[in-house]
Amino acid sequence: MITNLRGRDLICDLDFSKEEVETVLDVAWDLKRKRALGEPHPLLRDKTLAMLFFFSSTRTRSSFEAGMAQLGGHAAFIDSRTTQVAHGDTAKEIGEILGRYFDGIAIRQVDWGYGNKYLNWVAEASRVPVLNMQCDLYHPHQILADLMTMMEKKGRDLRRKKLVVSWAYASSYLKPMSVPHSLILQMPRFGLDITLAYPPEFKLRDDILEEAKAQARKYGAGFEIVHDMDEAFKDADIVYAKSWGPLMTTTDPEEGKKLQDKYKDWITDERRMALAKPDAIYMHPLPADRDVEVTSAVMDGPHSVVFDEAENRLHAQKAVMALTMW
Ligand code: CP
Repeated sequence: MITNLRGRDLICDLDFSKEEVETVLDVAWDLKRKRALGEPHPLLRDKTLAMLFFFSSTRTRSSFEAGMAQLGGHAAFIDSRTTQVAHGDTAKEIGEILGRYFDGIAIRQVDWGYGNKYLNWVAEASRVPVLNMQCDLYHPHQILADLMTMMEKKGRDLRRKKLVVSWAYASSYLKPMSVPHSLILQMPRFGLDITLAYPPEFKLRDDILEEAKAQARKYGAGFEIVHDMDEAFKDADIVYAKSWGPLMTTTDPEEGKKLQDKYKDWITDERRMALAKPDAIYMHPLPADRDVEVTSAVMDGPHSVVFDEAENRLHAQKAVMALTMW
């Protein structure tokens, strides 16, 4: 077990080594058990977390805030639009100043081509850990919760399990690419064979794809790309199908919407789930466009683990905070 995570940032999934991720999971299960037993665990008494949001959130905000309270500390919600951030506070000022008030700075900034840079600029100026609550490139805390959920449902040894990371149609907005990026970076380290599926216009970033393939080679995991949702689902152990914007093709919302609308049949429904293994699980980080991205029959059906997955955000994030912010 690697134990010296104090003071560390978590911005990209690979910022923590595989062994460090295993430490996070170990602590997460311990904290989950303690919460189930009603056992207090004030590991961060008197500590504070700044949560700076440039974009809306339900799960991330709630789970970080609840998690800090359960650890005996306090989380402050800071909305970019209602603070002087909107009037010019720079990343350096945020890192310097919030770093002096708080024991950790968590940020959600998903603007394409900017969010990840912003988090790194804050981290350079901050004396306390910077935690990524989702940027344009990565969503590492979501993926820690996903990994925890996969292990709970499929066993701690995930080697040779087939994980399908598939694009799905959504009509609400062009969603960030951070979840598929983070999945393909983190999961090969745990031996999952990745099948990545998307329509041609929805490719992921080349540098991240190359890094993911390198991780797969290093850990002896499979990695294939297909452009057919049915083909991808065949014999899957884990189906993780969600929408993302065609940001490598266009950043224009209207053009992007037109491209999305070409692929309305990329929906997770019962017919497609039947192509996967009989005991396959369905995962989604939420929010999902119900009956557009995934049918309610699947979302609320026997394969779905989306609520356990959402719960694990709390436990995984508490583990990261407890390990980095003391
Ligand atoms: N999965 C996730 O990050 O949810 P929120 O956008 O509600 O935080």
